[in-house]
Amino acid sequence: MAESLHISGESKEAIYRELIPQIRALLTGEPNLTANLANTCAALKEAFDFFWVGFYLVEGDELVLGPFQGPIACTRIKPGKGVCGTAWIQNNTIIVPNVDEFPGHIACSSLSKSEIVIPIVHNGNVVGVLDIDSKELNDFDETDAQHLTELCQWLGTSCFG
Ligand code: SME
Repeated sequence: MAESLHISGESKEAIYRELIPQIRALLTGEPNLTANLANTCAALKEAFDFFWVGFYLVEGDELVLGPFQGPIACTRIKPGKGVCGTAWIQNNTIIVPNVDEFPGHIACSSLSKSEIVIPIVHNGNVVGVLDIDSKELNDFDETDAQHLTELCQWLGTSCFG
């Protein structure tokens, strides 16, 4: 296993291009889902210093907090509630430039200003979401959506089961 991440790029695009193969290498061969999601959060937090990075996993009729890095967060989210519950039922990546303008946004911390949520699909069903929060307004764009969606597609195929 790699002992540390190696990131030399400075642009967001360059960092994702270096980071995601390292995450895949780190997770490949490890069957434990909690370990893999925990290391994914740690790698994203280390590379980008996001305010909050974490997973919510589908359990019955709600999302339940999974591995994360950052301040404590709400534990359970119902379908259609908040950004996470909306991304879940729509099976769609959602970029929120300003959380105060997203109807029904669930504020786990008043410091969070913008957010991106990406669904994770396994065998055609959404099994969880990756949620990333920033202390800056408008911190997420199509570059994040593209690379994080690719990462979540890989997680859904390779780590869930
Ligand atoms: N803001 C999210 C809730 C989770 S926290 O951001 C960690 C939402 O509206 O679904």
